[in-house]
Amino acid sequence: MPHSVPNPNIRQTQMFINGQWIPSQSGKTFDTINPANEEVIAQVAEGDAVDVECAVEAARRAFDEGPWPRLNARERGKIMHRFCDLIDEEIDELAAIESLDNGKPLKDARYVDIPLAVECIRYYAGWADKIQGTTIPVNGDFLCYTRREPVGVAGQIIPWNFPILMVAWKWGPALAAGCTLVMKPAEQTPLTCLRLARLAQKAGVPDGVINVVPGFGPTAGAAIVKHPGVDKIAFTGSGETAKTIMRQSADTMKRMTLELGGKSPNIVFADASLEAAAEGAHIGIHLNQGQCCCAGSRLFVEDSIHDSFVEKVVELSRKRRVGNPFDPATEQGPQVDRAQFEKIMSYIEKGQEEGAVCATGGQRVGDRGFFVEPTVFTEVHDEMAIARDEIFGPVLSVLRFSDVDELVRRANATTFGLAAAVWTRNVSKAHTLASRLRAGTVWVNCYDVFDAAAPFGGFKQSGFGRELGQRGLDTYLEDKTVTVSLG
Ligand code: NAI
Ligand code: MG
Repeated sequence: MPHSVPNPNIRQTQMFINGQWIPSQSGKTFDTINPANEEVIAQVAEGDAVDVECAVEAARRAFDEGPWPRLNARERGKIMHRFCDLIDEEIDELAAIESLDNGKPLKDARYVDIPLAVECIRYYAGWADKIQGTTIPVNGDFLCYTRREPVGVAGQIIPWNFPILMVAWKWGPALAAGCTLVMKPAEQTPLTCLRLARLAQKAGVPDGVINVVPGFGPTAGAAIVKHPGVDKIAFTGSGETAKTIMRQSADTMKRMTLELGGKSPNIVFADASLEAAAEGAHIGIHLNQGQCCCAGSRLFVEDSIHDSFVEKVVELSRKRRVGNPFDPATEQGPQVDRAQFEKIMSYIEKGQEEGAVCATGGQRVGDRGFFVEPTVFTEVHDEMAIARDEIFGPVLSVLRFSDVDELVRRANATTFGLAAAVWTRNVSKAHTLASRLRAGTVWVNCYDVFDAAAPFGGFKQSGFGRELGQRGLDTYLEDKTVTVSLG
């Protein structure tokens, strides 16, 4: 291969607790794997309940007694901006580590994920000194006002599909609000989260404010969820794990935001700009190896243009370049691990068994690394598994429609409600659909457009609470009402 695997300096493989780099108390480590060649990149400290205990204690102390929540708010913002400057300084190395650990093309990490992460943290840095309450005209001789106070210690559990970006979505609002936090990165991709903790410390985030415990869900993750010293859980991942987390956090009644999966409808009308819509359908499913919670995995195409439109989409999939993430020509790298790879291949098999037509793709690429061909199924029916379940891979299901009311019913006939898109030149159709689709985000004539200021989150079983924007900040704040007798 012309572009070999680089060898970035993996400095951080230990846990980060109370500003210290330490091994796990059990001494255990786990391997993190390069999914492009299945080789071990590094051994990382494997935290469990005892390590979480230390991390929560540190976060608790930093919140209850430490400087962070008491700092001048503007100072918190400045430290967050400094953190971003340091990320920018190390962006090439960070991108290389992200790409090694996750498998995503280097250019995606370098030019999309990290810039978006920095933008998010800077956006929330700007909020730090703009968190304010209200005065309320109550009956009687009283002064009534509200204060917006940090919720406390946040337990943050993130997945592996956007490791750096998920750190930004979680740390940005937590730090701006004055919270402290314990994060568990995904076991597949712990490396960049640890590096970011080092940069945050260098930027001046006090010890104990950010704690990172790498490890597995049922051990380290569950310990965070159950710990009485944690006030709030912010989770991104699967619905199954979210349900476990809800059950296990009930006893301590934690505040919670859940950002889960989807089976998002991407709807193309005959009157759309079809070139743009085909590109949107393509990126909507294949971005990030198909590992996006908001992937447009159900492509609804109006009957009258179905065949010619599908041809365009299939052609784009055929041309998509799959290969070494470090090759600048590569558009699609490997899936994150063997489990995800096998899940995707089994859905491809199921699609064929159920009678859908595999118009392109359907095979593994090579025999080393977890590469899957960009795959498009046509003649898919609503009740097929590939039309109902989240596959989380580069597998598109194409469905036909003709009647709009029927389309809306079918698009909404899912337990998910994360995102949807509509492609049409008809303004009234676009806005009508935007209101009728039961999803937290609706894109019109675009797909996967994110902004740090625009709230993102799910209807139905795609979760609750919002991230990004002011609504995302709100989930790290408590309202306190203060009533003062003036009599
Ligand atoms: P997962 O939901 O099990 O893992 C996400 C995070 O939760 C990881 O950090 C994991 O260690 C942690 N976790 C697992 N069990 C836990 C527990 N009992 N308590 C606390 N934390 C726990 O997802 P997984 O297994 O990586 O992927 C399975 C499927 O989930 C994917 O195929 C995809 O369909 C979906 N998924 C959705 C994501 C999204 O962005 N919405 C991201 C990742 C996966
Ligand atoms: Mg890895």
